[in-house]
Amino acid sequence: MKLWLEKSFSTQSDLSPYQIWMWPERQDNFGFLVSQGNQALIIDPSTSYVTKILNHLGVDKVTLALTHHHFDHIGGLESLEKYNPKIYCSSHDRSRILRANHSYESIFLWQSLSFSVQKLKGHTQGHISLYNSEFDFIFSGDVLFSLGCGRLFEGTAEDLHKSLKYFLGLPEKTQIFASHEYSLKNYEFLADVLNLPNHQLKSELLKRIETEGKTIPTTVGFEKSHNPFLKCVLNSPNQSQAIQSLSEMRQKRDLY
Ligand SMILES: [Fe+2]
Repeated sequence: MKLWLEKSFSTQSDLSPYQIWMWPERQDNFGFLVSQGNQALIIDPSTSYVTKILNHLGVDKVTLALTHHHFDHIGGLESLEKYNPKIYCSSHDRSRILRANHSYESIFLWQSLSFSVQKLKGHTQGHISLYNSEFDFIFSGDVLFSLGCGRLFEGTAEDLHKSLKYFLGLPEKTQIFASHEYSLKNYEFLADVLNLPNHQLKSELLKRIETEGKTIPTTVGFEKSHNPFLKCVLNSPNQSQAIQSLSEMRQKRDLY
């Protein structure tokens, strides 16, 4: 199944007066942008393609919000220099994202949108996610994906447990703008390795890919029902068992 082979972008949510846009980047990354008039908040510019979108939208004032330091999330920074943007990242990541010029505080404000800045360790130590409670959406970066979660490059299963507990505390309708399209691969893991085939789930995913070219944004409610990592947390009788089963599940997924 081909995902968004054409470079295209579309409005995902009309949060009047704001709009969220998303588009495909690299192999399976997403780019995200919130616009209002001639201003935009860009989340994790992966490549210079974002500048084409800014031109198309007539944006000339840009702010950047980064989730973490991995190259597929910051590769477009150089192309945005001409906008002289404020570039936010976690204080932990300032030493490894040299173009960043601001550190997040606990609340990040852009225009009248307020985001709660959540430090969610596991994938990396400096990773943050941005949650807006007014419209109920989150830019989750590489912490949580549809039917999966990010690899533990710099963290432990304990870190992952804490991070996933945060998502479980959000309203079910919360839209999760995850940074990668991994749903089908994650479904195959669910069916082949965990031996939990679910034909209805598979056809739902395929239908979204056929009609939208992607399965993001997902929702907290959908992930609670289907994401095997969230289920480790939900179904374990206590925290230490949850951490143990998360650790085992992550190892299996890494090997898949
Ligand atoms: Fe990453």
